[in-house]
Parts: sequence; structure tokens; C-alpha cells
Amino acid sequence: MQFTSLLIPALIAAGTAIACPGEEHGHAHDHHKRAFPSAPLTPPSRPLEWGDFNIIHTTDSHGWLLGHQKTSFPEPNYSGDFGDFASFVTHMKQIALEKDVDLLLIDSGDLHDGTGLSDGFPPGGVDAHESNKFILDLPYDVMAIGNHELYIYANTFDMYTNFVPKLNGRYLSSNVNITVFDQHNNTINVPVGNRFAKFKTRKGRSVTSLGVLYDFTGNDVNTTVQKVEDMVKEAWFAEAIKEEPDVFVLVGHMPVSQDNWPTVFNAVRAVHAHTPIMILGGHSHIRDCVQFDGRSMALESGRYMETVGWMSAKLNHVGTKDNITFTRRYLDPNRVTYEYHTGRGTSASTLSGANYTISQSPFPSNNSLLTLFAAEAMPYALTINNSRAGIQNVMITNSGSQRFDVYSGPFTKNDQLTASPFTDSFLFIPNITFGIASQILPALNNAGADERRRSFALDERERERYSRGDVDMRFMEWLKEMDRRSEGPARRAAGNATLGYVTYDSCPGVGDDVLHTPLPFFDTPDFIGSNNPDVSNDTPIDLVFVDFIEDQLLGILNSVQTAKTYTTADVSSYTDVLADAVLGCTRRSSGTDRRSAIQI
Ligand SMILES: *[C@@H]1O[C@H](CO)[C@@H](O)[C@H](O)[C@H]1NC(C)=O
Ligand SMILES: *[C@@H]1O[C@H](CO)[C@@H](O)[C@H](O)[C@H]1NC(C)=O
Ligand SMILES: *[C@@H]1O[C@H](CO)[C@@H](O)[C@H](O)[C@H]1NC(C)=O
Ligand SMILES: *[C@@H]1O[C@H](CO)[C@@H](O)[C@H](O)[C@H]1NC(C)=O
Ligand SMILES: *[C@@H]1O[C@H](CO)[C@@H](O)[C@H](O)[C@H]1NC(C)=O
Ligand SMILES: *[C@@H]1O[C@H](CO)[C@@H](O)[C@H](O)[C@H]1NC(C)=O
Ligand SMILES: *[C@@H]1O[C@H](CO)[C@@H](O)[C@H](O)[C@H]1NC(C)=O
Ligand SMILES: *[C@@H]1O[C@H](CO)[C@@H](O)[C@H](O)[C@H]1NC(C)=O
Ligand SMILES: *[C@@H]1O[C@H](CO)[C@@H](O)[C@H](O)[C@H]1NC(C)=O
Ligand SMILES: *[C@@H]1O[C@H](CO)[C@@H](O)[C@H](O)[C@H]1NC(C)=O
Ligand SMILES: [Zn+2]
Ligand SMILES: [Zn+2]
Repeated sequence: MQFTSLLIPALIAAGTAIACPGEEHGHAHDHHKRAFPSAPLTPPSRPLEWGDFNIIHTTDSHGWLLGHQKTSFPEPNYSGDFGDFASFVTHMKQIALEKDVDLLLIDSGDLHDGTGLSDGFPPGGVDAHESNKFILDLPYDVMAIGNHELYIYANTFDMYTNFVPKLNGRYLSSNVNITVFDQHNNTINVPVGNRFAKFKTRKGRSVTSLGVLYDFTGNDVNTTVQKVEDMVKEAWFAEAIKEEPDVFVLVGHMPVSQDNWPTVFNAVRAVHAHTPIMILGGHSHIRDCVQFDGRSMALESGRYMETVGWMSAKLNHVGTKDNITFTRRYLDPNRVTYEYHTGRGTSASTLSGANYTISQSPFPSNNSLLTLFAAEAMPYALTINNSRAGIQNVMITNSGSQRFDVYSGPFTKNDQLTASPFTDSFLFIPNITFGIASQILPALNNAGADERRRSFALDERERERYSRGDVDMRFMEWLKEMDRRSEGPARRAAGNATLGYVTYDSCPGVGDDVLHTPLPFFDTPDFIGSNNPDVSNDTPIDLVFVDFIEDQLLGILNSVQTAKTYTTADVSSYTDVLADAVLGCTRRSSGTDRRSAIQI
């Protein structure tokens, strides 16, 4: 009996915390040397424009401290790891000293959820507890809380207990509280970090900062998120912004477009008509920048350490009401970029195989991660050692469950969790005829598409998804727009540029530091499923689905048939295998049948 990986023969699994039933633990540890891109990376297009007040910005890093390690486009462009970034920051600080200007380092939240480093903790551990220690090694001036710090109380509590104290009052949660026990075992409701910070820069400028979270509703019990519109009415808020600083540096886990920054901005402007305001946002995972007026700029710096943001301002003309000269730049975090901008020194290898992407390949197709997950991995993983395995089934999950592409190269535990980090469980309803079950997936997708067609703005369901923390729609829309704008001649003209982000925002001047041609983009359905079994319409089968979509699925099931009203009482657990284990489940095969389903 042999074990070959469903995905690749050389599965590298560190002491598996998440395993499939019956899977043997303790695979050989195969420590690969970190692959650096062999292709020479394109240097940035032009030097950064420094002002007298400058900011390096990260947001939504989600545990990507190892950098993007795969050799497929455009991953090498984001290959800088957190150590490279730390050196970059150190060098930039030195340059700021030489130029005798201010340089702040700021983060807008979502440190949790997204890679093996943050999520692959052993049982009993806490998400990102270890990876956050590396973040503490960097000289962050201000950090703000993200929604991913609030899905699980233990994570918020860990931030409150172990992380916040290290930031010396600069971890900000203006509208986010946690409930804890005080030393007398009374419950108290207190801000997770500080609500605001006032400090002086090295050059002696006074700064007032906030750390605002958008109107998030998906937080765990014993955490509280106050609506932004209510926060700006608080007495502490009025008090905090009353005194005029040299500059407001408003940090927050809130997109700079299509969200509530204007509410915060206007509240400050109502008191200080001309004070410079620099806003550092996040959450929708895009590169974006807007100016609410001529003396402010609002920057959002992408996700997953694919972007390091830069903002500079010339603040030295105190007393004028003229527009301020701002610049912003979206850096591709890699050693070439870092070296280019700091004038310091480095080098680069290759693997081949298949690439499975979420939006760069059509669905369904052989290069679609959604196809891989729904049609190959899920039917296999969920039926391992399952007494229902002999009964035909239809399996459905949401495409948003897949968070990142799987690229050629070794498939590690880290890759497993980056692609599919959610610990959702799988449920089923038995004895649904195939004729009914086969209508569910199309009906779920049509329901979503109909809603989108009906209303131009965010419809109710999307608003609900958004408020619970789902930013996929915005991120996908951004990629699609990028692809759309660059069709035809524009794409051909940019043909000699390498693949990556091409940002269109509403600020003047040059945004993307390196010129790219956009990634191909293909629309994907909201829901995906296994291939239909070859059975007659009246065959009873198991309708299997991820718990995340239970409500919607029951609604659809009760609309495609009316013979019975299904409720949660008809639903049972299908397997102990959770969604984050599906891609890692190994396929057993005999010595003669060593063909693994997919080679990466
Ligand atoms: C299958 O599951 C049963 C019951 O959950 C368990 O006792 C048994 O060890 C499992 N077998 C394998 C091979 O994992
Ligand atoms: C992006 O990555 C590709 C693939 O390794 C590389 O050829 C290209 O030079 C990179 N582009 C930039 C701008 O770094
Ligand atoms: C995967 O991507 C890499 C880098 O872009 C490319 O060289 C390789 O050919 C791709 N593999 C397949 C099977 O498409
Ligand atoms: C959290 O909430 C539950 C239910 O409301 C409550 O019983 C518990 O005491 C709370 N925990 C803390 C630390 O306050
Ligand atoms: C608080 O409660 C815990 C158990 O819930 C108990 O172990 C501890 O002694 C209590 N502390 C005080 C000060 O009452
Ligand atoms: C947050 O905690 C503070 C301090 O205890 C309290 O005054 C405030 O009402 C709390 N806010 C929310 C929204 O729970
Ligand atoms: C100042 O900036 C505002 C907003 O960006 C713009 O509308 C206005 O034209 C600018 N004024 C000057 C004098 O450049
Ligand atoms: C997809 O993969 C299957 C099985 O490997 C193969 O038979 C088929 O030709 C592939 N389809 C395309 C479009 O490459
Ligand atoms: C399965 O459903 C059919 C109706 O579709 C019903 O007649 C039958 O009793 C059900 N069987 C079980 C075991 O629930
Ligand atoms: C592409 O090549 C042409 C001709 O060498 C050059 O003028 C142009 O600037 C290049 N474009 C990019 C995006 O590098
Ligand atoms: Zn995020
Ligand atoms: Zn977020």
C-alpha cells in the first residue's frame, strides 16, 4: 500500500494539524531551499518621490510573511519575504534620516487568516499568535485592527493580551471593543487597543491618529463593533480631534472608495478646514487612492504582501491653504524593488507543472482551482472512510471558499491553507432525488445573478456578505475592470510589460511603480459543485454542501420542490473532514496505480 498525494507525489506536510481520517501522519520532512525567481525581475519605473512627510503602508497581509514563493507569473514579483521587507524599512529609515524628513510605517489590519504560517498552528494554539511575533519586530508607528482579528474571540483576546501592549498605545481600535474579565472576575467591555493616538514624529510634527474598522457585523461574541457614523458622534472622538495637529494620519480597515471614510473625513474637516489629512485604508484587497480634497489623500495598498504602499506629502508650507503635493506609489514587494529604491544589494530558480487559478482561467477548465476543488478534490476527500461513500451524491460549495491560486511547485501545508483556509464543515440531506438535487446548483447561481441584474448598486445579499467581511466581489470587480480596460490594442501595446496589477484610481500622477500588463480574468460562479452522477432523475442521492451556505441552500431546495419543506432538522453532518483539509487529502493507490489525480 502506498500513499501518493492527490495533488503531487512530493507533498510536504509538517506535523499535520488538519488531516483526513485514516491518513498517516509524519510524512518525510522535505525541506526545500526557498526558490527565488530565476527570471530577472523588472526594476521599478522611476524613483520614489519623497516629501517631508512620508509613509510606508501595509494592509491585509493575512500571514504572508514568507513572501510569494512560486515561480509562475506574477508571483515572483511579490517574492520579497518579511525579512526583505524589514531590511527595506531599515534602509528607508536611514534614507529618511539622510534627507532629514519624516517616515512612518503603518498597517491597516487583517494580520490573521491566510497562510500556513498564521493558520497552521498545532491544536490548542491560536491563529497568528506566532506569526504576529515577526510583525512586532518591525518598527510600526501605527496599526489598526481588521475584521479578521474579530472572527474568533480567542484571536481578539490574544491581540488584546499579547500584541497590543507591545505597540505602546499605537495599536488602534477606535470603534472596536472586547469583553474580558477584570481581576475581580467582573466582565468589562473595553477597546481592544487604543481609540486614538497623539504623538510627535522625529522631526517634531504632531500627529493625531485613529484606527477605524468599517461597519463589520460578522464579529464573534464578546467583541463589539460600533458603526462608523455613531463613532464620530462620540464625546471622546470630538475630544481627540479637537486640538489641531500638524497632520491627521487616519488609519483604518476600511476601503478608501465606497465605504465610510467620508464620514470620518468630514467629521475632522468640520473642525479643521485645512489641516492635512492622510488616510491609510484597507480591507477590499485592492490598490486604490482617492483625494477627498486638495489637502488630503487616501491610499489603500492591496493584500497578501503583494503591494507595499508609499505616500508622501510636502507639508512644509505651514499656514497656507493651497493644495498639498502628495504622491502615492504601489510597490511590488521583491528584492529588486527594494534594492532599486534603497540602493542596496541580491539574487534569484524554477519548477514546472500545472497552475490552478481562481480567476486567471475559465471555469470549468483544467487550470481552474475551482474545478480542481469541486470536481476532483471535494468528491474524493469527503468520502474517505465515510459510511455514505457508497451512496451517489451531489456536492456543492461556495467559490469564495477558495482564497488563493495553487501554482506549480511543491504543494506544502502552507499552500493548502493559503488556497483554502476556512474550517467550514460539510452537511448533507439524504434521500433527495437526483432530478431535484441537480437543479440546486444552477438555481443558487441564478439567484445570485438575478439579484445582480436587478440592481446596479450592492443588493441586499451582497451588502450582507460585505458587512460580514466578504470582499471578493470588490476584489473580483477590480480585476475584471483592469482586464476590461486593457483589451485589444492596449493589451498588445503593453505586451512587453510583465503580468501584474494595472491600477486605475482617481489620484493624479503615476501610481503603479512598475508597469504591468493585467492578468487574464474570467468570471466565476458564486457556487460550484461536483460533476453530476450518471443516474436517473428519480434516484435518491445525498445532497452534500458546506455549512456556510446552509440557509441559502435550504431556501433554494424549498423553491425547486414543494413536496416537503426542508429545515435544519433534515440536515446532518456528512464527514469530519473540514474544508481546509480537502486539498491536502491523500489518495491511496496500489503499487501499480501510482497515477495521482493531478500533478502540480
Ligand atoms: C474510520 O472511521 C472509524 C469511525 O470513525 C474509525 O474507527 C476508523 O479508525 C477509521 N478508519 C480509518 C482507516 O481511518
Ligand atoms: C514578474 O515575474 C515574472 C516571472 O518571474 C518576471 O519575468 C518579471 O520580470 C517580473 N516582473 C517584474 C516587474 O518584476
Ligand atoms: C505555470 O506557470 C509557469 C510560470 O508562469 C509557466 O512557466 C508554466 O508553463 C505554467 N505551467 C503550465 C502547465 O501552464
Ligand atoms: C462572553 O459571552 C458569554 C455569553 O454572552 C458570557 O457568558 C461570557 O461571560 C462572556 N465572556 C467574557 C470574557 O466576558
Ligand atoms: C475567577 O474565576 C476563575 C474560574 O472561572 C477562578 O479560577 C478564579 O479564582 C476567580 N478569580 C477571582 C479573583 O475570583
Ligand atoms: C467600548 O468600551 C468603552 C470603555 O469601556 C465603553 O465606554 C464603550 O461604550 C464601549 N463601546 C462599545 C461600542 O461597546
Ligand atoms: C486642489 O485640489 C482640488 C481637489 O483635488 C482640485 O479640485 C482643485 O482644482 C485643486 N486646486 C488647485 C489650485 O490646484
Ligand atoms: C483536461 O484534462 C483531461 C484529463 O487530463 C484531458 O482529457 C482533457 O483533454 C483536458 N482538457 C483540456 C481542454 O486540456
Ligand atoms: C425518501 O423519499 C421518498 C419520497 O421522495 C419517500 O417516499 C421515502 O419514504 C423516503 N425514504 C426515506 C428513507 O426517508
Ligand atoms: C515596450 O517596448 C517599446 C519598444 O521597445 C517601448 O517603447 C515601451 O516603452 C515598452 N513598454 C513597456 C511597458 O515596457
Ligand atoms: Zn483582508
Ligand atoms: Zn478585511
